[in-house]
Order: sequence, then structure tokens, then C-alpha cells
Amino acid sequence: MILPIIMAGGSGTRLWPLSRSKYPKQFIPLISGHSMLQETALRLSALNAKAPMLICNEDHRFMAAEQMRQIEQNSSIILEPVGRNTAPAIALAAIKAINSGEDPLLLVLAADHDIKQADTFCDVVKSALPLAEAGKLVTFGIVPSHAETGYGYIKRGEPLEAEQQFTVDSFVEKPNKTTAEDYLASGQYYWNSGMFLFKASRYLEELKAHRPDIYSACELAMAQEAADLDFVRVNEEAFKACPDDSIDYAVMEKTQDAVVVALDAGWNDVGGFAALWDVKEKDDKGNAFIGDVKSVDTNNTLVVAGEKLIATVGVDDLVVVNTKDAVLVAHKDKCQQVKAIVNQLKADQ
Ligand code: GDD
Ligand code: MG
Repeated sequence: MILPIIMAGGSGTRLWPLSRSKYPKQFIPLISGHSMLQETALRLSALNAKAPMLICNEDHRFMAAEQMRQIEQNSSIILEPVGRNTAPAIALAAIKAINSGEDPLLLVLAADHDIKQADTFCDVVKSALPLAEAGKLVTFGIVPSHAETGYGYIKRGEPLEAEQQFTVDSFVEKPNKTTAEDYLASGQYYWNSGMFLFKASRYLEELKAHRPDIYSACELAMAQEAADLDFVRVNEEAFKACPDDSIDYAVMEKTQDAVVVALDAGWNDVGGFAALWDVKEKDDKGNAFIGDVKSVDTNNTLVVAGEKLIATVGVDDLVVVNTKDAVLVAHKDKCQQVKAIVNQLKADQ
């Protein structure tokens, strides 16, 4: 049985001022009428999986629970008192699953991805099930369309029996532009989608082998879990003592059992405004407008109008975002730097 695990603990700072610490991007209906979190759960319908298990920060528990209730998914929600990145988050979920007396296949998903072809995605996950059943740690590799520096890359190794399945030669986290260009040209690399499929027990074995410190901190944190309504609260002191690391560094780069399954389903990590512009429908001038927008001689521009009419004249490649208490105006190619604004705001507090 597949148990989807949705990691929803990120803060989405590159989408400020849309994404805020009290209301991060995964809880916002950015692409459709559903939030990114809801979209993530809804696109799994063809898998006949269990209701997803969520892992998020305790500050967001009521929002997370309410959003799952709205889409009639009876999810258990693990609450983190602090973020310790994805390796510990997945470990908590894996331990929880094993403690329930099962060893399900965990389909690990991020709460902030857009996948245009949900059916293709579900088919590819199904094609990977035998690998995960056999103890492999499956990572889904996206066929790259450009030399993106915001993603990790996976170099494929030898082909396996089924089509589009390979051993992993190596992982490279977020390369620079020249390296990314070389990777793209070689045709040997996939983007690391940050989505995985493996048995709960296999993940824990590999974590224990490569990062015993993270493993034991998570085990201790879960040994003292406390139920609070439908929430699972881990022990705060034990979890705070857990080292911070991503699954990519802690496990996937180190295990001998990683395999990559290619995925071509219109995938996008909606990490920043350029990606949001990318996934939105655009007019014939390449503009994506959300809300009440009027424009003249405007090209390749993203406008999120909020509650005001926004008008643009004679501008190209801009991002304009209006919210109740903040307005962002940025060049589309520079909007990754919005993170620096968030850091300034934090420093001013
Ligand atoms: N529960 C929980 N706790 N979730 C977390 C935490 C945490 O401490 N940290 C991150 N997440 C969630 C985020 O909400 C997101 O859904 C997912 O885990 C991935 O984290 P990001 O912070 O968005 O990672 P990234 O985009 O920089 O990089 C990862 O994803 C890329 C693809 O989207 C890496 O795996 C890259 O290699 C990969 O290309
Ligand atoms: Mg991301």
C-alpha cells in the first residue's frame, strides 16, 4: 500500500509578499482554486493510495487540518516544533508508519509542486512500485528543459529492465550556470524532483547507516510523541537537538540503492515568481495577470493585483505583486533576490 507523505514545512520566502511566515505558499491557491497542498493530495486519486500523512510546522496546524478536511482527506498530521529540513521530517513519518505496525511504501512529495499531467505522474509512480518493493530508493528525475540552477541534478547510470529506469551515477545539488549548461548538453542528467518512493523501513535503514545522529534524534522525538486532537506532536527537546539536513545530502547521495525513474509530466517547483509566471496561462504577449489588471504595451510580465486595480504601461519582464500590506516590483530575472528583502525585514524586526 502506498502512503503519501507530504512535506509542508517550507517557508516560501522567494514568493514574498504573497507567501508569508504565517501563510506560506503551500497553503495558498496559487495555481487553481485549491491550495498547492490540496493540489498535491488531489492529484494522487488514480493511485488508490492511503490518505496522505502531512508533516508541517506546528504554527500551521489548523490551516493544514482545515485544508485537508475541505478535500475530504482524513490525514494524520505530524507537527514539527522547528524545521530541521527534509531528512528528519521524512524520518518522523517513516517511524510513525512503522509504529502503526506496517511497512508501507512512502511516496514522499513536496507541497509546492505543480504537475500538469497528473495521470502521467500516477502512471510513472505505478511503474516504479516494483523497484521500491524490491528495496530500492526511487527518485523521480525530471527531463530538464533548460539549465536551471535552482534544482539539484541526478546523473543517470546504467539502464534497468524497464524503460526510463536507471541506476544513479551521482547527485549534484544546485550547480552553477556553466555546469548546469554542460549537464543539459550531455543528455545524461535529470533534475532532482525532490519526490521519492521507498519502503519506510529501507529509508530508516539507510538513514541509520549514513546519519545515525539524525536517526536517533528522530527516534527519540517520536518515542515521546503526544497525540493532540488529530495531531501528532513530537518531543520538542529531542527534535530541537536533531541535526538539520536534506534527504538529498543525508541519504540519497550516499545510498548504494538509489535508482532514478524519468518523469515527463509538466512538473514545476513553484519556488519563485519566475516559476509562477511559467506555470500560469499567458496572453499572446506572454503576460500572466491575476486579478484586476489593465495593460498597454506590456510584455512577459506577471501581475498579482490583490484588491486594487493594477495598470502597467510600456514595461517588459516585470513582476508586480500587490497585497494588503506590501507591494513588490521586481525584474523577472532577478526575483530570486526577493529572499534578501525577507532577510532585511527579519533583521529590522
Ligand atoms: N515538514 C518539513 N520540514 N518540510 C520541509 C522542511 C522541514 O524542515 N524543509 C523543507 N520542507 C519541504 C518544503 O515545504 C518543500 O515542500 C520540500 O520540503 C522541499 O524543500 P525546499 O526548501 O523547497 O527545497 P528546494 O526546492 O530548495 O530543493 C529541493 O527540491 C528541489 C526540487 O523542488 C532539493 O531536493 C533539490 O535537489 C530539488 O531539485
Ligand atoms: Mg522547493
